[in-house]
Amino acid sequence: MTNIRAAITGVHAYVPDYVLTNAELEKMVDTNDEWIVSRTGIRERRILKGEGLASSDMGAEAVKGLLAKTGTSPEEIELVICATATPDMMFPDTANLIAYKTGIKNAFTFDLGAACSSFLFSVATGAKYIESGMYKKVVIVGADKMSSIVDYTDRATCILFGDAAGAVLLEPSKDGNGIMDAILKSDGIGAEHLYQRAGGSLKPASHETVDAKEHFIFQNGRPVYKAAVAGMSSVVKEMMKRHGLSADDIAWVVPHQANLRIIESVASMADFPMEKVMVNIHRYGNTTSATLPLCLWEWENQLKKGDNLILTAFGGGYTWGAIWVKWAI
Ligand code: UT7
Repeated sequence: MTNIRAAITGVHAYVPDYVLTNAELEKMVDTNDEWIVSRTGIRERRILKGEGLASSDMGAEAVKGLLAKTGTSPEEIELVICATATPDMMFPDTANLIAYKTGIKNAFTFDLGAACSSFLFSVATGAKYIESGMYKKVVIVGADKMSSIVDYTDRATCILFGDAAGAVLLEPSKDGNGIMDAILKSDGIGAEHLYQRAGGSLKPASHETVDAKEHFIFQNGRPVYKAAVAGMSSVVKEMMKRHGLSADDIAWVVPHQANLRIIESVASMADFPMEKVMVNIHRYGNTTSATLPLCLWEWENQLKKGDNLILTAFGGGYTWGAIWVKWAI
């Protein structure tokens, strides 16, 4: 280990223009605004419309904005990690496509898949390339076109997800602020409750897999809900205990946006008032790898240098974790 710390030195995001409201979903499936809002907190979500547009196009928009905002030239970027559950293709990686679309020519690129925890895991991974001294400019981009794997005849899932992308720049910290610690977890027991069954090596695409709707996301909501509350609250509490942090020391909790009730339960179990918790699920739904950067982007103007943030996520796998960040911008 070196004494170098990685800091988030820029954040940007992209959301598509099209707004899919609960009222519109009421016309598509047997659901209603009251059920969706009371069970999830979601009022609307964004959908990427347009022929030939994919996760990489949203990711590229987020990265272009990030580079412009931070005055970074694409040639300076040395590593791009794309967090995604909806890559443009099985290969090449979406990170590769985003780099190409943004003029990033000198970087090593790869995708990191951990469902809704992908962005969290990617930030922790990217930070190690900075901490080791290997690289000085790393882009982490979360991009998910969830509408490409959602069955809009399945009311249990189609109300939940939206499309978006968000990106952060990681650089060596100049003042001791930055990524302080990460607790990351995985447990394959979750594979039976949240998955996209076909299209991989287990069940390659066939007429049968299409007819059986196995290229869409499947979720058994109840067990995932319970595991999400237990998983995120335990790692948040573990992080605070490990570093002697109290709720008063933390400026903001930045949780994955899957369900407002999950967020409220995690906040309550870790003793955080909701005023300190970033919530924008009502406008975007669950954007999988984009929820955390989307929050940071929207709250950016309220964040002060040195603020303690706890980022936490939970996703399919299961995968979950927490990162303690001292805001460096
Ligand atoms: O981000 C990755 C990790 N994912 C999560 O963290 C999501 C975790 N799970 C959840 O957020 C919740 O389980 C859901 C929002 C998915 C579902 O909420 P729930 O309170 O667990 O509802 P449920 O699935 O137990 O369904 C309750 C009832 C059922 O009807 P019956 O059997 O009680 O008659 C469902 O058929 O609600 C019905 N239902 C709906 N009704 C109206 C399910 N979806 C809908 C709907 N509109 N869209």
